[in-house]
Amino acid sequence: MNNIIFLGLAGAGKGTQAQILSDTIGIPMVSSGDLFRFHLSNKTELGIEANKYMSIGALVPDDTTINMILQRIGEEDCNNGFILDGFPRTLEQAESLHKAVNGQINCVVYIEVAENELVKRLSDRVICTIKTCNAILSKSAIGGIDSNCPKCDKPALSQRKDDLPEVVENRLKTQIPLIKQLVDYYNNKDILISVDGEQNVDMVESEIQMKLGINQ
Ligand code: AP5
Repeated sequence: MNNIIFLGLAGAGKGTQAQILSDTIGIPMVSSGDLFRFHLSNKTELGIEANKYMSIGALVPDDTTINMILQRIGEEDCNNGFILDGFPRTLEQAESLHKAVNGQINCVVYIEVAENELVKRLSDRVICTIKTCNAILSKSAIGGIDSNCPKCDKPALSQRKDDLPEVVENRLKTQIPLIKQLVDYYNNKDILISVDGEQNVDMVESEIQMKLGINQ
């Protein structure tokens, strides 16, 4: 069983590293933010409700989020494990997950990045809106959002609405006190590893794989 959680503030690189690890070890990545955005793009009741919170940088209520994630990790492709990105974010979510998997969490990877670097990264982030691609990119590295996605070659690049500066400020204000609680919670269970998220993407990947004992 490979049940791994990625913890970190908005823009720390959870999605980037969870996707790399998922491709490396063949365990599905489950992202709460991506699931909410998927629901929103399909205009489901859940997506429309979640967007009321996401658009202002607040957290979606625990009940809704917990139900969505526990249902997703109960699906067949998660039988050998899952890599969670963006969940849990509150102690209530952490406790619910712990109960649902009988404490079977192998490791929590905490990606640490300073706040000023996070703000810079989020204002530069571009995503591919093709669901099977979902690439996370840097606008300055690819020269804008008008070109095709460098990963799937489709004209589907976009900036997330919650990456506007005023929403980013609220997201970080909401997340900072909560992440401290989660770091303590998982440290007390002795399953937390911290990673320096200010290195480049490849170096963060190497540090994670080294600390998880994955042969490179
Ligand atoms: P979510 O989508 O989870 O957003 P987030 O946690 O705020 O995290 P991000 O996706 O913004 O950042 P990331 O850490 O994944 O960084 P990324 O790899 O993209 O959640 C959105 C909203 O949904 C929440 O605000 C909330 O409303 C709701 N929600 C979600 N989960 C919830 C929950 N559990 N409970 C309640 N509500 C919930 O990288 C960012 C940028 O940096 C990219 O451009 C990337 O290319 C770049 N980058 C990555 N790594 C590096 C590096 N090492 N060096 C330089 N650049 C890098």
